[in-house]
Amino acid sequence: MKNIRFIIQPGGSLTGTIRVPGDKSISHRSIMLGSIAEGTTSVTGFLEGDDSLATLKAFQAMGVKIDGPHQGKVIIEGVGLKGLKAPSHALNMGNSGTSMRLLSGILAGQDFSCELTGDASLSKRPMKRVIDPLTQMGATIASEDKGLPPLKIQGSPKLKAIDYTLPMASAQVKSCVLLAGLYADGVTRVIEPAPTRDHTERMLRGFGYEVQSEALDKLATRVTLKGGGKLKAGPIDVPSDISSAAFYMVAASIAPGSDLLIQHVGLNPTRTGIIDILRLMGADLTLENEHEVGGEPVADVRVRYAKLKGIQIPEALVPLAIDEFPVLFVAASAAEGTTVLTGAEELRVKESDRIQVMADALQAIGVDAQPTEDGMIIKGGQQVPQKSKIISHHDHRISMAMTVAALTAVAPIEIEDCANVNTSFPGFVELANSVGLKVVAQEASE
Ligand code: S3P
Repeated sequence: MKNIRFIIQPGGSLTGTIRVPGDKSISHRSIMLGSIAEGTTSVTGFLEGDDSLATLKAFQAMGVKIDGPHQGKVIIEGVGLKGLKAPSHALNMGNSGTSMRLLSGILAGQDFSCELTGDASLSKRPMKRVIDPLTQMGATIASEDKGLPPLKIQGSPKLKAIDYTLPMASAQVKSCVLLAGLYADGVTRVIEPAPTRDHTERMLRGFGYEVQSEALDKLATRVTLKGGGKLKAGPIDVPSDISSAAFYMVAASIAPGSDLLIQHVGLNPTRTGIIDILRLMGADLTLENEHEVGGEPVADVRVRYAKLKGIQIPEALVPLAIDEFPVLFVAASAAEGTTVLTGAEELRVKESDRIQVMADALQAIGVDAQPTEDGMIIKGGQQVPQKSKIISHHDHRISMAMTVAALTAVAPIEIEDCANVNTSFPGFVELANSVGLKVVAQEASE
């Protein structure tokens, strides 16, 4: 396997106007829902990253005609809810938990069996959280010990609807159950304990499918749909991914002299925790040109350097910023004072254990970062000079977060195993260099 190593010189400031690639979550869903819709779905702004391409190839392997991507454009000839065909081989989901968990929901309703595999990281990620509800609905799923991939899913054309309360705030599990619910007999209800991204619900409604969401209390929501309807294909314009923009929001916030405009960023309210948390830390972020694209709010985000301060991160914001903590830890390292994160144990089961891996990486560059069971305590603004080698554990967001960390570091940073940056952010290095970071990507064999 090729090892891509990043070497980043310290310092710099960010200026200019950029647009980051398309939203990963929406790109996955555009292929999945476009494939099981009736009619032709035309997608623009599709993320041409390895994760969303894994989803695209999986549906091609199930007989769906998909053209592209060509510069973010994808045309999907939907086959309808019942039109998928058994693939002739196991479907490899690569690094992508979203592909495996959402696709499991769709496969649960098929009258064929199918195997889902993944890379070394995905093969360690918990799937019991989708196996449990899908088994209750009538699918038969075999896995490795403790519910780890690969998964062998024997679907059932007679799925039963369920009432399911998610044991954790997870959009992937919610979406998995809702997608299986499309195939089930009766009304499926999913209760989420705290708001998580709602792209599945929005896109289903955009495709003419009735989905109800009702608030149960300050945090919990119940999402309801009835099986057996039809999805009507339509155009999808994918906004830029706020989770990718987040690296540049933090970079411009911590590098003195920065003034950066990030265009066309998706600002779905279930994803904007990064903006709320950075503002609580004193960041200077303004939204310009706010409008709506295909049912999703979008704006340009202007970021100017500001002196950040450490904060206690409100737990209610954790699910709304769940993918942004690696880079938020970098913001906390640059801030004056102590930042405390709690209630974020889900970070331990992402592409890597993001609590331990980020604590190790920050300590390696001289930051006082103490991991806790469900979060981290970071004493910012007091870095000890040292030249450091970072192990990213093949986690794209660790590599990109530690690239941003170089802006306030006192010595160059080297990061190993950065090839997976391509899962969510193709072109990251070129874009970073175009606005003022100093990154070299080297190829080395392992
Ligand atoms: C995602 C949901 C989140 C997130 C992931 C994408 C989605 O995962 O971390 O990157 O597209 O639904 P969880 O549902 O496990 O929190």
